[in-house]
Amino acid sequence: KTILVLNGPNLNLLGKREPSVYGRQTLADVESLCRQACDQHGFALDFRQSNHEGHLIDWIHEAGERQAAGDLQGVVFNAGALTHTSLALHDAIKGASVRVIELHISNVHAREAFRHHSWISPVAQGVMAGFGIHGYVLAIQALAQQA
Ligand code: DQA
Repeated sequence: KTILVLNGPNLNLLGKREPSVYGRQTLADVESLCRQACDQHGFALDFRQSNHEGHLIDWIHEAGERQAAGDLQGVVFNAGALTHTSLALHDAIKGASVRVIELHISNVHAREAFRHHSWISPVAQGVMAGFGIHGYVLAIQALAQQA
């Protein structure tokens, strides 16, 4: 079975982008952490990033089909700023009936008020925020231990 890790806009800049908030490690570093965690738990990793909302929506739909077919354990989803704006991603997750763990590297609740609302949280199984890139590992663990 596969675990899908989806990353939204600007996460390709990880390591260069606001390092005081997001750290100095790159998205490639995140991918290798995720790969280790998936290996450990006996899951395959599918790791993706896009700056385009429509790509993310298509990937959520695909994930719903894969989960229904028994090929996918669930999704770890860092939607970036689309978290705070995208009713379309909310509807996609709901429509695809896919198990999603919302993830943020930073603690969005300790930051600006405009980061406090999430369109993803109401349709997520759970939310991981504020543990840096280690949060991806914790979210993979949370998915892996479910039936
Ligand atoms: C983020 C938090 C969002 O508010 C922000 O827009 C991001 C990254 C995080 O991982 O902490 O792009 O999702």
